[in-house]
Amino acid sequence: MHIVVVYVGWVSVAVFPGSFDPITVGHLDVVRRAAGIFDTVIVAVGRNAAKSALLPLDERLRLAALAVAGIDGATVSEVPGLLAAFCAEKGADVIVKGLRSGSDLDDELPMAAMNRHLTGVETLFLPADGGLGHVASSLVKDVARHGGEIGGLVTPEVAAAVMAALFPGGSRGAGAATSAPNIDTSEE
Ligand code: PNS
Repeated sequence: MHIVVVYVGWVSVAVFPGSFDPITVGHLDVVRRAAGIFDTVIVAVGRNAAKSALLPLDERLRLAALAVAGIDGATVSEVPGLLAAFCAEKGADVIVKGLRSGSDLDDELPMAAMNRHLTGVETLFLPADGGLGHVASSLVKDVARHGGEIGGLVTPEVAAAVMAALFPGGSRGAGAATSAPNIDTSEE
């Protein structure tokens, strides 16, 4: 008698959620490190009801997909609704988040607790790399708005997309801050 042993492989899945408006080198560091721990890392691009995004969702998805193209096991997907439901649908073992500071932790703890409350999914926090603690999407956009250099903080494709979104007419340099949208130029 022959016994056939069928090995059913278990694939570990992590979900890395965020607005990714835009994806930065800090995010990519977290994706790479998570991909070293889990078989699959889904970069989950969602809407944060508390923020208004510079880049439309499809552009954030496109740029994230380009940015993670070289990272084995990393994929990109939209979160159409609740993150906890998305994790359940994808069979995710864990949510991964990067932490740069104590204030990041303050923001993240209630979300981690809520996601666990909803479906039981746990959140794993990875401390930001020491050299990347200052890299935040909001700061990247602010630097770009004011004419600063964002190369090195984001991929070239992302830098081009951010500049195009901020300066649709291509005007940049002197006076850039006043020609960019969402700038309150009133004196305080
Ligand atoms: O990069 P952000 O802005 O901190 O990402 C926040 C995001 C998109 C992960 C969060 O707002 C989210 O999970 N949105 C999906 C809707 C949801 O599940 N809301 C309840 C969160 S506890």
